[in-house]
Amino acid sequence: MKNKLEDLRKKILKELDKAKTGELLDELEIKYLGRKGELSNILRSIKDLGEKERGEIGQLANAIKTDVTAKFAEIKAEVAGKESITQFVDVTLPGKKIERGHLHPITLIQAELEDLFISLGFLVADGPELESDYYNFEALNIPKTHPARDMQDTFYIDKKNAAGEYDLLLRTHTSNVQVRAMQKYGAPLKAVGSGRCFRSEATDARHEHTLYQFEGFMIDKDINFSHLKGILELVGKKLFGPDTKLRMRPKFYPFVEPGTNGEYTCSLCHGQGCRVCKNSGWLEIVGAGLVHPNVLRAGGIDPEIYSGYAFGFGLSRLAQLKYGIDDARLAMSGDLRFLNQF
Ligand code: PHE
Repeated sequence: MKNKLEDLRKKILKELDKAKTGELLDELEIKYLGRKGELSNILRSIKDLGEKERGEIGQLANAIKTDVTAKFAEIKAEVAGKESITQFVDVTLPGKKIERGHLHPITLIQAELEDLFISLGFLVADGPELESDYYNFEALNIPKTHPARDMQDTFYIDKKNAAGEYDLLLRTHTSNVQVRAMQKYGAPLKAVGSGRCFRSEATDARHEHTLYQFEGFMIDKDINFSHLKGILELVGKKLFGPDTKLRMRPKFYPFVEPGTNGEYTCSLCHGQGCRVCKNSGWLEIVGAGLVHPNVLRAGGIDPEIYSGYAFGFGLSRLAQLKYGIDDARLAMSGDLRFLNQF
């Protein structure tokens, strides 16, 4: 028993000498001096010894405990001193830079356009991405059998409505906001609405199944084509600079009459012709027109009293042009090598 105790003392002191951190010391303390520690176990078993032995061993064990406890305290103080030196903070050193996220290039353009339109007194309206056939097509003067539906093939949701029709789809454009906003706010109305749209596209560098659009419309008495031209010119100058010119040519959209596309002088070559504008000098980025009377009616607005214009920008395309992104698929890729450039 005596030998056992002496061995234990040596073992503890030896391990203590090697312990260099507070953490390690705590571990050792539990291992030997803790309630279930080796030394405590021996001390507890002393009561079972014979009378003669008990006195002698008891004394020795207690001496060892005092000894070892003192040594623990000494080494702990030593280690703590060292640790506090290594933990010294030089507050004059420059701080560690904390990595911050940033906005996606499409979100940046969306915010820029929203700011412009808010400053012109437009409200920012919203529409769902999972939309009914009615708001995406029917209310926009695109009946079920109309061939114009082929222009915007989309993804239908595998769930029939009460009438047994597949009624839900992923919206193909932000124009779904138009009739929703008319029904909610009535006329006169100035609103923009933007966000994610979907098309059943075979993807390539210019096409993506998920795209972003920016819609705007104004409904009031005596709104005519020159109002539309004015606002589209303003957007072009804001996005691409004061020299930007606008060209409008007739284009068919069922929900406007007359309908037009809008092309801006290419922001890269300023109309000289380059790869991006396919040598034409012009970039087609917006569809627009005067709101069709049927659409006003669907929105509960009397087309005999009110008229309006509407336009829809391809936000994804705007971002591509503004930042010189050569592949539409990158925007949705989540690839940090791409995203970190903005
Ligand atoms: N919704 C049309 C599209 O996605 C664009 C558009 C909006 C055209 C508003 C006219 C008026 O192609």
